[in-house]
Amino acid sequence: MMEVNKNQPDLLVQAFAHAAERRSVTSIENFIDAILWERPDLRKKIAKGKASVEREESANSAYVVFIGDEVFKAPKLKRDMEASASGDEYETVKKVNRNIIIAFEKEVEALQGLKGSSRLIPKVTYIGKGTLFFAMSRKPGVTYESLTAITPLTTEQKRTLARDLIDFIIHMALALPMENGRYAKHSDLHRRNILLDPKTKKLTAVIDFGRIFYFSRDKLGHVGIDEVITKMGEEEFARRKSDIPNPKQVKAKSLDASANYAKVAGSQKPFGGMQ
Ligand SMILES: Nc1ncnc2c1ncn2[C@@H]1O[C@H](COP(=O)(O)OP(=O)(O)O)[C@@H](O)[C@H]1O
Ligand SMILES: [Mg+2]
Repeated sequence: MMEVNKNQPDLLVQAFAHAAERRSVTSIENFIDAILWERPDLRKKIAKGKASVEREESANSAYVVFIGDEVFKAPKLKRDMEASASGDEYETVKKVNRNIIIAFEKEVEALQGLKGSSRLIPKVTYIGKGTLFFAMSRKPGVTYESLTAITPLTTEQKRTLARDLIDFIIHMALALPMENGRYAKHSDLHRRNILLDPKTKKLTAVIDFGRIFYFSRDKLGHVGIDEVITKMGEEEFARRKSDIPNPKQVKAKSLDASANYAKVAGSQKPFGGMQ
């Protein structure tokens, strides 16, 4: 049995304690104020007409603002619900807010863990000091949803996209640390979280890393963009799966290797009989 280390606060407490040191954003207006308060460089750029502030209205779980070549994101907490709720309801709302903050912290952590590893992934450019937000590089492209609203992709374009998404999934599984023999996966791969080049229709970015869950190797190949892409993705994954080591085989292989070592070394155990 593994003992719980009492000196190491659990992730929830850690995330919350960290978050508690910073104010949370309550409206898009006070978000913009908070960004500009911390980033005089942007205030200057805006004053000189070199950057402007754009609000992303479609985001629902977050406040999202574009300034220059950066995107600013802050968790949208259910503060109004917290204020009006009572008793059990209050506890539920508090839990919801706590989960939103954890997802936020995890998004930043994942993006930092992936930094520089793929052109498809935004880079963290700033983390809020007094207020709970972060900034990342603004990626080119438009969402799959808006790009395909009028003209759907052709079968060939879908095939290319399915390949690129599987490539991305494999890249991420290999780039982030495993948990209990399972691989990290962006578990929110939907039409508004992938960006495509409007001309070539090719994948330019994957965004929104707030939901990363862990899966066994066999369950990594699912992309939920549309039925055809999902099917193509699963076929592509079946071909590419062996790029990801199967943790069971890795274990079996190292056991084989130590059996060979024992053979070569005769009856002597390599580490003085350590079990
Ligand atoms: N790094 C980025 N580059 C370009 N656009 C982005 C970026 N991050 C977010 N966006 C835009 O903002 C929208 C909302 O951001 P997202 O991180 O998906 O927030 P939410 O968690 O609310 O879905 C995205 O659908 C996309 O249009
Ligand atoms: Mg999103």
